[in-house]
Amino acid sequence: METIGVHVDGVSKRYAHRVKGEIYAARDVRLDVRPGEFLTLLGPSGCGKTTTLRMIAGYEKPDAGRIRFGGQDVTDLPANQRNIGFVFQNYALFPHLSVFENVAYGLRVRGQSDDVIANSVGDVLTLVGLAGYEQQFSGQLSGGEQQRVALARAIVIRPRVLLFDEPLSNLDAKLRVQMRQEIRDLQRRLAITTVYVTHDQEEAMAVSDRIAVMHQGSVVQEGTAEDLYHRPTSQFVAQFVGRMNLIAGRVAAIAGRTADIAVLGALISAPLPRRDLAPGDPVQIIVRPEAIEVVRGGDEKTHSDLLPATIVSRTFLGEKIEYSVRCAQEMLQIVRYNEGPGALIPEGATVLLRFAADAVTVLTD
Ligand SMILES: Nc1ncnc2c1ncn2[C@@H]1O[C@H](COP(=O)(O)OP(=O)(O)OP(=O)(O)O)[C@@H](O)[C@H]1O
Ligand SMILES: [Mg+2]
Repeated sequence: METIGVHVDGVSKRYAHRVKGEIYAARDVRLDVRPGEFLTLLGPSGCGKTTTLRMIAGYEKPDAGRIRFGGQDVTDLPANQRNIGFVFQNYALFPHLSVFENVAYGLRVRGQSDDVIANSVGDVLTLVGLAGYEQQFSGQLSGGEQQRVALARAIVIRPRVLLFDEPLSNLDAKLRVQMRQEIRDLQRRLAITTVYVTHDQEEAMAVSDRIAVMHQGSVVQEGTAEDLYHRPTSQFVAQFVGRMNLIAGRVAAIAGRTADIAVLGALISAPLPRRDLAPGDPVQIIVRPEAIEVVRGGDEKTHSDLLPATIVSRTFLGEKIEYSVRCAQEMLQIVRYNEGPGALIPEGATVLLRFAADAVTVLTD
């Protein structure tokens, strides 16, 4: 079967709200999911992820905008004619049906023969690691096994588009990590165009080809995990994707596409975000905790890009160490890999910090 893209073209959905009158659950959402791509909608609770996903599925009708699967406009097509697989947060298995019948359901509805059903169900149960569980009931399965049945049920109909709404949130942390890898591997093997919803940024980074970050009903930035992490265009995205230090500064000088930013009593060079910035303009800089290098021996000759700082506290986490550091009245969070017991820096130590130039993002909003 051909692999198709999913196109969400300016889709909006309003709901009645008792106090606010009306709210936009989704507002002018635009997404282009490429054929075979794994795209994740990531955002905080209430930002419109489920609403958007349900409109792609056909469970909700948009107030404005169109949805296309490949070249076909499906906006007015009911869900059961869109040929989608949907995996729900709570699995939504039929408790009175066996694992076999749960998975077979979509094929029976489509009038497939018993032979075809037996073969297809057997194949997908093997694919999700549940061969031998055919006659069990959902009440006899662990959470992870139930999620595998839900996955098998979604893919057995060979959907054109696979949709997931927080599929792992009922599982414990270890199983979540294992299942997300399984979902990712399966999606790659089957090459089904996939839209996945989560509020967990690490999960989004682990499974996605691309991530669309949503905020208050709109997509505010989309890109690969690396794009979002290293080149956030707003404080919201920087804060939501990973941890960060946000520091107020001022443009000191501009040379080509690089600016010298005065922050923390020093000058730091960073890529210029906008051409219209001028010396004196206030900006914010973002530095990730792992992008701050700690140089021991605080009485070396100070360099303009080295910032004197004091270690206020440290948390030993085995493979890494988190330091809280005071630098020119600001508290900064720093993460360093553990390079051995001799490299641990004691609390109270005076150090010098260096910000990796390509790791500093300048924001103007
Ligand atoms: N049927 C409905 N009637 C009224 N308001 C709704 C309805 N469904 C969703 N909303 C509102 O629309 C907004 C978006 O909801 P949605 O379920 O899409 O968020 P979400 O991003 O999936 O959040 P979560 O991470 O908590 O699942 C919320 O403010 C919610 O209260
Ligand atoms: Mg939701």
